Amino acid sequence: MSEIGLIGLGVMGRNLALNIERNGFPIAVFNRSPEKTLEFIAGPAAGKRITGFERLVDMVKDLQKPRRIILMVTAGDAVDATSAQLIPHLVLIDGGNSYFQDTERRSRELSAANLNFIGMGISGGEEGALWGPSLMPGGQEEAWQSVSSIFQAIAARAEDGQPCVTYIGPRGAGHYVKMVHNGIEYADMQLIAETYDLLHRGLQISNQELRDTFLEWNRGELRSYLIEITANILNKIDDLTGLYLVDMILDEAQQKGTGKWTSQDALNIGAPVPTINAAIESRILSGFKAQRVNSSKLFSEPPAFRGETRKVVQAACDALYASKVLSYAQGMEMLRIASEVYEYDLNLAEISRIWRAGCIIRADLLNDISSAFLSKPALSNLLFDDVFKQTIEKRQQSLRFIVQQGATLGIPMMATNASLSYFDAYRSGILPANLIQAQRDYFGAHTYRRLDREGVFHTDWSEKS
Ligand code: 6PG
Repeated sequence: MSEIGLIGLGVMGRNLALNIERNGFPIAVFNRSPEKTLEFIAGPAAGKRITGFERLVDMVKDLQKPRRIILMVTAGDAVDATSAQLIPHLVLIDGGNSYFQDTERRSRELSAANLNFIGMGISGGEEGALWGPSLMPGGQEEAWQSVSSIFQAIAARAEDGQPCVTYIGPRGAGHYVKMVHNGIEYADMQLIAETYDLLHRGLQISNQELRDTFLEWNRGELRSYLIEITANILNKIDDLTGLYLVDMILDEAQQKGTGKWTSQDALNIGAPVPTINAAIESRILSGFKAQRVNSSKLFSEPPAFRGETRKVVQAACDALYASKVLSYAQGMEMLRIASEVYEYDLNLAEISRIWRAGCIIRADLLNDISSAFLSKPALSNLLFDDVFKQTIEKRQQSLRFIVQQGATLGIPMMATNASLSYFDAYRSGILPANLIQAQRDYFGAHTYRRLDREGVFHTDWSEKS
């Protein structure tokens, strides 16, 4: 590798190259007409750490980073022309949690300047970054191809050995998919937290027992990173007090905003994601600590649990799985809708495939999701896949039972409720939107359509019937 590059082997360029090399810096050189390069390498540069290249791209690749290049071409147009030639060989990768609309803008601006730009979602936290994250790159595909081998090598590997990285789509597609990943992450975390709350506060199950429950769940269909860390968290003793650490942590959830963006954009594009919305609302509500403490003294407590603990724990496992599937169904359908709205051409089978390892939402469930979209790429919702249809069908009674338990014991389960209501709305051929339409037409002459004939109708509702 060379420490620096030089373009333009006129007399000044040649001598400068020789000087740099003599002072201890290996140098790469390029000239527009290759004969000059050959002549220089065979002549004054012979035996020196000066490497000549016939193609600019090869010279750029030979440079240590940050790549430093000296232009020794004729002043004027040649400087512009050479700079313009160099820019396409540089690839800028934004691996932060950027807002996808910012990535869209940067993509536009930087591609107008001819610079290759990749907006890449990276999931997996600190450990993932070090040992193998899940990577969601978007941007110019050719630019991605030029760097993909590095990222294929560093990405997490699923159990079948496949790297958890795939080209997602143009412009902001990578950051968009990462954003939805985070929305699902919030929902997963909230569903687990609600289940823990029901069992711990509602049924008075100890941290130790709950830890064993989560460990057991992690050996079954719920197997996932978030369930695994929950078991570990429940076992952790606080150094300061000798009590369970989880009981000492202030119950106010913070957020940096990526999950919230999912809800905001879902509203913009008309994608129903009630479980994700409920997860965000729950984090916001948790921040009202002072008000919560005050009002906890104002109202009577619901009656204590008097039932069969084992039955609730078993149902909670099924309900958690069902409500998780329903939240993934929302997230995946949101991606399908976004793919059309933003022309991302997303491959949902690939996206769920690269979420199987490395990322925060990695879970066994993603194998089935990926298979569902692989066999039916145009699947509009996971509920229409046979495997998931049965999954929900078998667990819907448990989900209803758990939601009832929460309501009876006064344990807030906004996300679990949202998953159930989402399911009930999605499987209802009839919804009360007829009444909404009538109300809109009543007060604002907004018109309505009918079930029995084509066209748009308006009624004078004030007329006596
Ligand atoms: C990931 C995570 C990560 C995120 C944190 C914090 O996939 O590795 O999504 O990118 O920044 O989980 O998110 P909040 O602060 O919004 O909870």
